[in-house]
Amino acid sequence: MKKPPYLPTIFLFCIVFAACILPASSQAAKPPPQSGQALYSQACAACHGADGTGVPSEKLGFNVPVPDFSDCNFASREANLDWMYVAVVGGPARGFSRLMPSFGEALSKQQIERILDYIRSFCKNKNWPRGELNLPRPLVTTKAYPEDELVLSTSVNTEGLDVITSEIIYEQRFGFRNQFELVVPFGWRENDENGGTEWTSNLGDIGLGVKRVVYHSLEKGSILSVGGEILLATGDEEEGFGSGSTVFEPYIAYGQILPAGFFAQFQVGAGLPYDDDEANEEAFWRAAFGKAIYVGEYGRRWSPMVEILGSRELVSEADTNWDIVPQLQVTLNHRQHVRLCAGARIPLNDTDTRETVYMVYLLWDWFDGPFIAGW
Ligand code: HEC
Repeated sequence: MKKPPYLPTIFLFCIVFAACILPASSQAAKPPPQSGQALYSQACAACHGADGTGVPSEKLGFNVPVPDFSDCNFASREANLDWMYVAVVGGPARGFSRLMPSFGEALSKQQIERILDYIRSFCKNKNWPRGELNLPRPLVTTKAYPEDELVLSTSVNTEGLDVITSEIIYEQRFGFRNQFELVVPFGWRENDENGGTEWTSNLGDIGLGVKRVVYHSLEKGSILSVGGEILLATGDEEEGFGSGSTVFEPYIAYGQILPAGFFAQFQVGAGLPYDDDEANEEAFWRAAFGKAIYVGEYGRRWSPMVEILGSRELVSEADTNWDIVPQLQVTLNHRQHVRLCAGARIPLNDTDTRETVYMVYLLWDWFDGPFIAGW
C-alpha cells in the first residue's frame, strides 16, 4: 500500500517547528535583565536615596555621611573603576567605612556596571571632566586635568657640589574646568668656602598659575587644557635659584587614555622673560608615556612612566636639550589619594655640563579626605 504523501511533510514541519520556534519561545520565557535603575532601587537606594543624594544619617542610624551622587563636583572626579571596587569589595576597598557593604556576591559585575551607569545620571551637568581623565602626574610634564592637590617635590643633584631643590605646589579647582596654582620653590646648596663646605638655603622663583580645560571627552579618552604661569623673580639668581626676571609661561597640556591601561600626556609651552637682558626666551615640549597596573584585583596602583623632555632657548645657534625621565608612581594608601613618585632626569646631550637629577614627589589629593584618612 502506498504511504500517504502528507506524512513526511508533517514530520518535516514538526522538526522545523521544534528547531526554530521552541528555543525562541523558551528564550522569551527568560526574564529580561533588570535595568540599572531597578537594581539601584533594590540594592542601594535604602542608604543612597532614590535621588542619589544620600539618606540622612539620623534616618539610617549611623553617623557616617552617605555621599551625594547628584553633586557633580564630587561624582565627576571619581572614576568608575574605583566605584566598582567599592561596590564589589565594600567601603574598605578604598579606605571607606564598612557601612558601605560589599555586593560582590549578591550582584554580578555586569549588574554593578548597570547600576553605576544609572548613578552617573544623578549628576546632570556633563561639563565636568570625568575622573578617568585624571592620569597619573608625571614628574615634569604638567597634567591637563584640574586638581585639588598639595605636592611636595624634591630634586637632588649629587654630582660635584650638592644641590637640593624643593617645591611646594598647591592646586585648587574653581568652577568645573579651572584650576589655580601656587608654587613655592626653595632649596639648599653646598658651598665650597673657606676650606670647608657649608650649606646655604634660598627661596626660588614663586609661581602663580591658572589652567582651564578647553576640551574633554570620556568616550575618546582625551582632555586638552590651556594654562599660564607667572614666575616672580623672588629667587637668588647668583646662587642658582632664580632666573633674575619675571617669566610668563603659557602652555597647552593634553592627556590621552590608550588601550590596556596605557596613557600618554603632552605639554608644549614657552618661557617668556619680562627682562630679556636677564634670561632668554625658551620653548619646551614634554611627553610622558605610562601604564597603570593594579596589583591584586583591588589593590595598589603602580604607574611606571617615562618622560621625554626637550627645550631650546630662542636665540640663534642655541642647542636643543633633551632629557629622559624614567619614573615610578605608586598609590600609598587604600583611598589612593596619597601617592609617591620617584625617578631620575637624565640628560641625553651636553652631558659634560648637564647632570643627572634625582626627583621625588609626595602628593596628597586633599579633596578625597584628610592626609591620614583611608590607609
Ligand atoms: C547599608 C547602607 C548602604 C548601602 C545598601 C549601599 N551603600 Fe554605598 N555607601 C554607604 C556609606 C555609609 C558610604 C560612605 C562610606 C564612607 O564615606 O566611609 C557609601 C559609599 C559608597 C561609595 C563611595 C563613593 C566615594 O566616596 O567615592 C560608592 C561608590 C557606593 N557607596 C556605591 C554603592 C552602590 C553601587 C550600592 C548598591 C549596589 C550601595 N553603595 C549600597 C552605605 C551604603
